[in-house]
Amino acid sequence: MCGIIGYIGERKAQEVLLRGLTRLEYRGYDSAGVAVIDGDRINMLKRQGKLRILINELSTKPIAGTVGVGHTRWATHGVPNDINAHPHLDCTGKIAVVHNGIIENYLELKKNLIREGHKFVSETDTEIIPHLVEKFYKGNLEKAVTSALKLLKGSYAIAVIHKDEPDKVVGARCDSPLIVGVGKGENFLASDVPAVLDYTKEVIYLENHEVITITKKGVSVKDLSGRAINKKPCPISWDISQAEKCGHQHFMLKEISEQGDVLKKILEERLLKGKVSFEELKIKENDFKRFKKIAIVACGTAYHAGMTGKYMLEEYVKIPCWVDTSSEFRYRDPMVDRDTLTIIVSQSGETADSLAALREAKKRGAKTLGICNVLGSSIARESDGVIYTHAGPEIAVASTKAYTAQLAIFYLLTIYLAALRKSVPAPKVRALVREFKKVPDLMNDLIFEYRSDYNIIAAYAQEFKRYYFEKHNKSYFLYLARNINYPNAMEGALKLKEISYISAEGYPAGEMKHGPIALIDENPWVVCIAVKSKTYDKMLSNIQEIKARGGIIIAIVTEGDREILHNNINYVIEIPKINELFSPLLVVIPLQLLAYYVAREFGYDIDQPRNLAKSVTVE
Ligand code: G6P
Repeated sequence: MCGIIGYIGERKAQEVLLRGLTRLEYRGYDSAGVAVIDGDRINMLKRQGKLRILINELSTKPIAGTVGVGHTRWATHGVPNDINAHPHLDCTGKIAVVHNGIIENYLELKKNLIREGHKFVSETDTEIIPHLVEKFYKGNLEKAVTSALKLLKGSYAIAVIHKDEPDKVVGARCDSPLIVGVGKGENFLASDVPAVLDYTKEVIYLENHEVITITKKGVSVKDLSGRAINKKPCPISWDISQAEKCGHQHFMLKEISEQGDVLKKILEERLLKGKVSFEELKIKENDFKRFKKIAIVACGTAYHAGMTGKYMLEEYVKIPCWVDTSSEFRYRDPMVDRDTLTIIVSQSGETADSLAALREAKKRGAKTLGICNVLGSSIARESDGVIYTHAGPEIAVASTKAYTAQLAIFYLLTIYLAALRKSVPAPKVRALVREFKKVPDLMNDLIFEYRSDYNIIAAYAQEFKRYYFEKHNKSYFLYLARNINYPNAMEGALKLKEISYISAEGYPAGEMKHGPIALIDENPWVVCIAVKSKTYDKMLSNIQEIKARGGIIIAIVTEGDREILHNNINYVIEIPKINELFSPLLVVIPLQLLAYYVAREFGYDIDQPRNLAKSVTVE
């Protein structure tokens, strides 16, 4: 939700800010803006719409200056327009602020500021910040920002510049991410690491209530009482190419294509001599032995990974396990205690509801384990233990490789716990490891087959579009599956609705007769996940029930399955043979690609779908 960036150095600030915003655009893209100290004034340009509108305009009338802040917005308070776009200025036009988060008490503060004579122009909560800084400013920007922060309730990551102090950018965070990129003769503030990767691979992760001042030569961090805090930069192993499209038409397709290699790397790193190694994990083996239940909490795609995790953990670790969406967990009275391992799954590690759920679980005495992709993210830092998915930066808003990496960690955790708690015999654990190791190559083959220029999934997508218009836009998708692939049905539906805006629902196939069957006529396309499994026959019955009512079926089946072909299925997609347990890793590939190709057929903006953001740092 919103990306912010700040720069100070010798380069043209406009270029650095725009490049950084390009890397942060996944966080929000309804408007963007930059403010740069240009001689004796702050020069600002903000534009509604995608970042490229701002970039185009700035290319014809560039802003000079080497110190500035930038923002890409996902609107919360106030519609997306030029005025509500960030940066926001104070009354004098000397102070510019960019902000990610929500100031919950802004109305009250705004009322007081108006009473004191401040003039507001936007509908945003953010605008109170430059006015508060203006109010407290007595020649020291850092002190004025610190005083302003003490009045704020809610979440923020901010970057602030003042025309009269052109030698610094001041930033701060509370529950929204902010990192410092440490360069030579230049420094950066940003919401996320990829924004600074073109310039440096050294970053400092900031904690809540830390105030940071960057100058060309240095970085100083203080707490709200002005005490200095010593922070060390951490090296980043990510490569900038990981945050670029590298010849792919979209980040989503690139990230789908990377999944086999990501999985291979995870297994190479984590499976050492047949044993699972989570070297960064700080939770002790004895703790893992004593847990009596597991709660898995997450949002969106990560929630579906957690749902799949439940199937494997219960079957192989024999431990009761439940899955909650973070926004429900945090406002319930969740039954977690010191005997509960609470697993928070989050690609970004910053999702506000998941972070709040983590804190709630900790408050109740539970041990918390984060499964995160972004190094040093809030959930990673605040969990008792973290396992990183090491999937590399995921830029497309619709999550793909982070999902399969999360699944991989759940498989590894299952194998780890099954061995540790001796819940299944050792030879069975070894057999699981052997089977798991087959998956990366199978996945790569599968991706290769369905990514070629003329592949059947792309052809089905084309056919769907034709049918959709023939049926006067009444077609939509249903995804049905059973058992461990049921979460994949939810994930397939989520992918499709996220990027193609076509209504889609994932359902356990056994529940079809309790509702969704009423929807079946010739309009819906029903994706049936019918790979060989213990519920295969039941899926065949569901397929018959759909056919009998005129539904169009796309079946995802195990290669070589001849029986399925007698079912009068409209479209078939094959996946390689694999133990049912690991089939979700393969089944999800055609689901992701189907969503991708449908969205491409309809000509939508696949990497930046409307109304969504990659990292949801507001509740
Ligand atoms: C947003 C994204 C989804 C993501 C979800 C959870 O909705 O658009 O792709 O699955 O947040 O994000 P997290 O970073 O916590 O995994």
